[in-house]
Amino acid sequence: MILASSILEERGDRLRMLASDDTLTARSLVAPLFVTDGNDPPVEIPSLPGMQRLNISDTLRECETLTGLGIRAVALFPVIADEYKDHTATYALREDGLFPRILRALQDAHPQLILIADVALDPYSTHGHDGLLNAQGEVMNDPTVAHLSKLAVLLAQAGAGVVAPSDMMDGRVRSIRNALNSSGCHTTSILSYAAKFASAFYGPFRDAVSSSQKTYLDKRTYQLDPANASQAIRDALLDVEEDADALMVKPAGLYLDIIARLRERTTLPLAAYQVSGEYAQIHAATRTGWLNLDRARDESLAAIRRAGADFILTYFAREAASALLQRSAA
Ligand code: PBG
Repeated sequence: MILASSILEERGDRLRMLASDDTLTARSLVAPLFVTDGNDPPVEIPSLPGMQRLNISDTLRECETLTGLGIRAVALFPVIADEYKDHTATYALREDGLFPRILRALQDAHPQLILIADVALDPYSTHGHDGLLNAQGEVMNDPTVAHLSKLAVLLAQAGAGVVAPSDMMDGRVRSIRNALNSSGCHTTSILSYAAKFASAFYGPFRDAVSSSQKTYLDKRTYQLDPANASQAIRDALLDVEEDADALMVKPAGLYLDIIARLRERTTLPLAAYQVSGEYAQIHAATRTGWLNLDRARDESLAAIRRAGADFILTYFAREAASALLQRSAA
């Protein structure tokens, strides 16, 4: 007997509803936020439509909105004024610096919110690299790791429940863990950017945190080769041995294979960062009417979850959470 396809579809739908592993929830979304000093009103970031640089009090308000939507964590990125940047990123370690102040204010106002603090030197250095450079302009691994470990302790003591080293130096997870433990920060978690690729898709982020000349900065000496999957898996698993509490793959959408392979090899929580360029390209295509924003957004996030990510850092966090809320109310 040949049945109309609508009948077959209805028959299948009932069971698909039970079997669905499409579990995008606000809980699995983490909102990245760019925070500045001073009292200026929010400044739009042209290459990240809908994203703004916020001062500390506007950040507190934004977190109020996000928690109201069910979001439980934010990933914080300080935008440091040029006058504080130097070759050796000294401002990073100032106790009265912008980042510790943000964390203290947020912890006071939102004690339940999980604060994920990015640990790298690029916001503080004039050259925009994630590490310290020698006279030849090469990144020096060990002095950078020492600097980052002190930064991680400073941020943990200021209120970061999670520190997230995004620098890709060797041995930094172990060194940060030791530094945290010997400073009494035993409960601070480390979310390691375990597989971070030297990607062309970070452009708008660099626009957001620094100046646009750095948009195309080459970080291939310390970030991973996009063509090399086994090296990425090996590198990421080293972070497990070094005692990372969770792993992150970045970017997300172009690296679903890496997410899926890591998912099979670790029981640690697995995060993925849908980076600025992934977000910007969806927005750019919807501006011309070539894609539908909501559908492209939801599909891109569902794919990252399907590959095996437990949670997703995404500039779509607020919109996606609010769409989920509306759908559940309907
Ligand atoms: C650097 C850092 C980068 C991002 C997060 N942390 C950029 C880089 O490696 O140059 C990119 C995030 C994004 O593109 O959204 N510490």
